[in-house]
Amino acid sequence: MDTLLQAVGVHKRYGAVHALRGVDFAVGPGELVGLVGDNGAGKSTFVKTLSGVVTPTEGTIRWEGDPVTLDGPAAAGELGIETVYQDLGLCENLSVTENIYLGRELTRGRGPLRRLDTRRMTANVADVLSGLSVNVPRPDTRVSALSGGQRQAVAMSRCRLWQRRLVLLDEPTAALGVQESERVVAVIEELRAAGVAIVLISHDIPMVMRLADRVLVLRKGAVAADLPTAELDEHGVVALITGANEAAAARRGGNEDA
Ligand SMILES: Nc1ncnc2c1ncn2[C@@H]1O[C@H](COP(=O)(O)OP(=O)(O)OP(=O)(O)O)[C@@H](O)[C@H]1O
Ligand SMILES: [Mg+2]
Repeated sequence: MDTLLQAVGVHKRYGAVHALRGVDFAVGPGELVGLVGDNGAGKSTFVKTLSGVVTPTEGTIRWEGDPVTLDGPAAAGELGIETVYQDLGLCENLSVTENIYLGRELTRGRGPLRRLDTRRMTANVADVLSGLSVNVPRPDTRVSALSGGQRQAVAMSRCRLWQRRLVLLDEPTAALGVQESERVVAVIEELRAAGVAIVLISHDIPMVMRLADRVLVLRKGAVAADLPTAELDEHGVVALITGANEAAAARRGGNEDA
């Protein structure tokens, strides 16, 4: 598979905290990688290095093979990278359409006659929402009136409308009920089917096993495993997250950490 984004030897230090310790990673178009690990393992920090929010202390990030400097979310956005956080990025008092077009509004007319092209924006958003089988009432609904799952769907519609190429999801279903989570899952699958590369951070191991092509396990800031989902089961993933397998290997005389 073609590589869209590659991270090589990424380190991040926050003062004395060594949050990322040489992370190597790659993802290709239409590939969904599950990123798992215990609290504090470095998942959010790693995703932030890919979204330009955190600058790696060391290491290289390549986009379609070329080294890139992601010195801010705008730089990542220009490449087609978008991050969706649980509660981030939506303005409560604006409508669905206004949120999706925030900062990239369509206009019509020129000079002093230039004004927002609300009709075209609303039509585009209605189109994307229907294409994503999302149950969002109407494009002019205020976000404050939406459920958690609907908000996620709106945030992801933005990825679809702007033809994002890599979408980073940091625990998109953490605060959602079963039905809402399923809606978000449907949107994730639609993005993937459209060829978008996806990194999905989640503590929901069954969901990761169901959706991901590959699972990247971080433990204490380092890659504990990066394996096709087909080669893993839930117990194995949990063992990799906690390091139980490493303890077993040590008992067998292995010395991986030397
Ligand atoms: N801005 C920061 N300043 C200092 N330390 C930080 C900062 N952000 C994260 N850390 C530390 O870096 C380590 C990794 O944190 P990170 O948030 O990436 O973990 P995580 O895997 O996302 O955990 P969780 O599952 O709880 O979200 C932790 O030890 C954390 O305390
Ligand atoms: Mg986190």
